[in-house]
Amino acid sequence: MGKYKRTHMCGQLGLANVGEAVSVTGWVQRTRDLGGLIFIQLRDRSGIVQAVVNKDVTEELFELAGKVRGEYVLAVSGEVIKRAESAINPKMSTGYIELAVKELEVISKAETPPIYIEDDLNASETLRLKYRYLDLRRPVMQKVFITRHKVAKVVRDFMDENGFLEVETPMLTKTTPEGARDYLVPSRVQPGNFFALPQSPQLFKQILMVSGFDKYFQIVKCFRDEDLRADRQPEFTQIDLEMSFVDKEDVMELNERLLQRVFKEVLDYDIQLPVPKMTYKEAMERYGSDKPDTRFGLELKDIGDIVKTSEFKVFADTIANGGLIKAINAEGCSDKLSRKEIDSLGEFVKTYRAKGLAWINLSAEGVKSPIAKFLKEEELNAIIDRVGGKTGDIIFIVADSPKVAYDSLGQLRLELARRLELIDKSKYNLLWVTEFPLLDYDEEENRYVAMHHPFTSPMDEDIQLLDTDPKSVRAKAYDIVLNGYELGGGSIRIHNSELQEKMFGLLGFSKEQAWGKFGFLLEAFKYGTPPHGGLAFGLDRIIMLLTGTDNIKDVVAFPKTQTASCLMTNAPSPADEKQLNELNIKTTV
Ligand code: AMO
Ligand code: AMP
Repeated sequence: MGKYKRTHMCGQLGLANVGEAVSVTGWVQRTRDLGGLIFIQLRDRSGIVQAVVNKDVTEELFELAGKVRGEYVLAVSGEVIKRAESAINPKMSTGYIELAVKELEVISKAETPPIYIEDDLNASETLRLKYRYLDLRRPVMQKVFITRHKVAKVVRDFMDENGFLEVETPMLTKTTPEGARDYLVPSRVQPGNFFALPQSPQLFKQILMVSGFDKYFQIVKCFRDEDLRADRQPEFTQIDLEMSFVDKEDVMELNERLLQRVFKEVLDYDIQLPVPKMTYKEAMERYGSDKPDTRFGLELKDIGDIVKTSEFKVFADTIANGGLIKAINAEGCSDKLSRKEIDSLGEFVKTYRAKGLAWINLSAEGVKSPIAKFLKEEELNAIIDRVGGKTGDIIFIVADSPKVAYDSLGQLRLELARRLELIDKSKYNLLWVTEFPLLDYDEEENRYVAMHHPFTSPMDEDIQLLDTDPKSVRAKAYDIVLNGYELGGGSIRIHNSELQEKMFGLLGFSKEQAWGKFGFLLEAFKYGTPPHGGLAFGLDRIIMLLTGTDNIKDVVAFPKTQTASCLMTNAPSPADEKQLNELNIKTTV
């Protein structure tokens, strides 16, 4: 038994303990001095208990209690007593009792903390991240990490029950084809050579299939040097898995059962299986996004055929140039959105590179629209008809290249739902998005790039299009989407070397270049490769959804800021001359 033996955690104490002699340890939440009585609220991970020090016990004890300040670390012993009726606090789990202190030890003093240790905190994020250890003392934050722990445990149990082996893969490795920038680590013993931190274990898990591991998983850190967003961190955690002798239905079925189990055990929420499936094409056409939030309507409608010969040049020219004209009907918005708000939505879509936002307000006083004067009556009526418009609605229209039209209206859809509070926060709408295009055309590099990664298999029925019409080839790739977040994605891989070579050819790699980059995998594939496929979830994103935050930093113990730095440790920081010399590195700044 150590010196700081405690009999209970603070939050465990209740009426059942009345009359018992107990010892607890923790941090001082706050103190109140009522003259002859000093109240000390003591907090540990389990909760808060109120200790009361009576002047009558001993003078020394009372004097010591008077010196206690917020965040001091104490060991307290005494007897659990019932609170007087008037002092009961039903909001606290320990609110019916208090601890009559007999002994008190100040284990460690604390300076006044720069942020309050309270759930409702309005300190700036900068301050919270600098003093992250204090921020993490807050019960809301601790709850997140308890959930995170629980999810990891449920995942490990589930994977084990389903025959998966957890195998670790290297952190110091070769660049992987996930499409973001790599974090590089210089080699000291091989001057001028670099490791890359893995963007995912993709190639290693495929090699483990060649090795006959059959079913692999890993809860693993991944590193991507990409622009950060509210749901992205430069280092994040995947639940990564790969299976042999499967087709995509097998992978999807396993993963939806995994999510079902996690939601049941963590939130006691029942996910209905099977999870609905939607093709990429349908998701884009209806929602302008490959990760649609299906908790509300506001679907996109195509009106290109109606206005392709319109006198409104913007519309006619867009169609002539291969663009799209898409509309959303914001039902009942006519008297909810002021003219100023409509204009601000116009500015909003411009941030997604739309050239403008046309609107038709079907107000009770009549149709108001800056484009009405360019439209024939039958065109206007056909548009209203297509979107199901009625008095009181506002129709929003974007005419642009397919990419910009989808992106800007897809975002406008989300923005309208936020402003109009159309989202039912108690819903968890899962959706598989399937049949992604195999290839994406990179305008900058002037070549095709793999939409998922170069080892993703085309759909069997589209293989013949690889020679004639590569951009319309669909892949055996799937993403799982929850409430508009991409939670995970994966694919069935190519296990046939001819097809793999064709794929490299389409991506513009010569045989030498492909072997230079991925030779070890191609070599491995020569020695008996099972058909295989897999998926990776973003664990951080799952935790975000489970804990109801839209900020990924809330679910990472020590996160990075927008500029990929850690405010607590001040990383990254300059390396000293000696280290750089050893690594044969000269900086130019
Ligand atoms: P992908 O690149 O789609 O697939 O990544 C899988 C999932 O990881 C999460 N994710 C991120 N989370 C936080 N911050 C980031 N920067 C970040 N980037 C990705 C997302 C995403 O769905 N090797 C393939 C999987 C496979 O094919 O099996 C892969 O990594 O939730
Ligand atoms: P203009 O005649 O350029 O003033 O445009 C009339 C209306 O059309 C304005 O409300 C613009 O916002 C809108 N508009 C302009 N370009 C586009 C576009 N590409 N798609 C949709 N609306 C547009």
